[in-house]
Amino acid sequence: MASDLITETDLLPYEWPGSFFIGAEEIEEALKVLNARSPFRFYGPDLQRCVERLEAAYCKRLNRKYAIAVNSGTAALSLALAALGVGPGDEVLVPGYMWISCISAIVRSGAIPRLVDVDDTFCMDPADLEKKIGPHTKGVLLVHMSGAMGAVDKIAEICRKNKLFLLEDCAQANGATLKGRPAGSFGDMAIFSFQLNKNITAGEGGLVVCDDENLYRRSWAVHDLGYPRNADGRLEFSDPNYQMWGQGSRYAELLAAVMLAQLGKLEKITTEMRRRKYALKKRLSAIPGLTFRRIPDPDGDTGAFLLMIWKDRQTCLLVVEQSRKAGVHTGPLGMNNIAMTDWGLHIYFNNASLVRKSPLNNAGRPWSDPLNEFAKSYEYGKGTLPALDALVDRSSLLAIAPVLTDEAIERIAQAFENAAKA
Ligand SMILES: Cc1ncc(COP(=O)(O)O)c(C=O)c1O
Repeated sequence: MASDLITETDLLPYEWPGSFFIGAEEIEEALKVLNARSPFRFYGPDLQRCVERLEAAYCKRLNRKYAIAVNSGTAALSLALAALGVGPGDEVLVPGYMWISCISAIVRSGAIPRLVDVDDTFCMDPADLEKKIGPHTKGVLLVHMSGAMGAVDKIAEICRKNKLFLLEDCAQANGATLKGRPAGSFGDMAIFSFQLNKNITAGEGGLVVCDDENLYRRSWAVHDLGYPRNADGRLEFSDPNYQMWGQGSRYAELLAAVMLAQLGKLEKITTEMRRRKYALKKRLSAIPGLTFRRIPDPDGDTGAFLLMIWKDRQTCLLVVEQSRKAGVHTGPLGMNNIAMTDWGLHIYFNNASLVRKSPLNNAGRPWSDPLNEFAKSYEYGKGTLPALDALVDRSSLLAIAPVLTDEAIERIAQAFENAAKA
């Protein structure tokens, strides 16, 4: 078999963009924290204030008033919904192409997720969003998927018109822009993730941004122990507006140190990915019947993923199989060059907990909550979102590493061309 001839060095680099750039700067920043013996963000013998500096850097990048770094993107989503006051009796509109953390944050809040279809950008379809808005809709969780934004400006407008909050999930689009405006600057709140698969990484981490002081103070209390802290980093209990329940999501100085160095490399990483992605896309554009995800602003695409739409499912599965045999895949730890239906918890109907409405506790909440009676008929199985179903059925996904060589790009292009011919 051809695959027997593929050596380890022929395989694609893993889809962990920021990890390739972890080097002297990250080590130096992390060492400063260790040498200062001050790994806790609020106090220590010689605090380096890395978490604080990371937050300030994000505020500046996105022209936002407030930022709070946390220990994961999942935690960032949960605390944003808590700050926005989401709970039983509310529904949050969310696209069917997302990550399970988006749904779990809504369910954990006691509210109901309502699925919205996608358009040809693979992001939320504003037309379907307008159809889904109902009396219980409290807000929209918009997910900028696979490295780029869709109709975010239209969706922000719809939210404003209908007095809904807009929470942007920028976990997969750190560094993306739309007509020069960065992901994370459109919504009432936005979240980021710094987990290994993201454009920049410290292995773990997340961040929330907003402009409203009340949202910020609520987020602050929830991300920690439920209360604010004073300038010395000690808990304050006196303000009744901020006596909340904390979720223990504080970020660590060591990881923030790594993130400070990574943030300095974000533009370089996205530029490298974008160049490679569009070179490959150009090479593949002659393949008959192959089209691509529509990117409203290619200059603002981070370039992390190429989504390919084939003539039909059979062609898609065959091309993936053949090109993988020709070496277009990563080692065993990666998920690259796959049919999109295999893209796990990114596709709503692959989420078993969602499809079967798994309860959060032994009272069956949030599904059994009388305040959520309005959502009794909501379904989450395949068939709920016809446009997304039809798209993912015949699409495949290729992650573009920022270190992909020109030779590898040529090899990928040839493998797809040969597979498509076959
Ligand atoms: C769109 C999206 N949202 C949220 C998250 C959650 O981030 P984390 O893994 O840091 O909890 C991810 C991570 O994969 C993601 O892709």
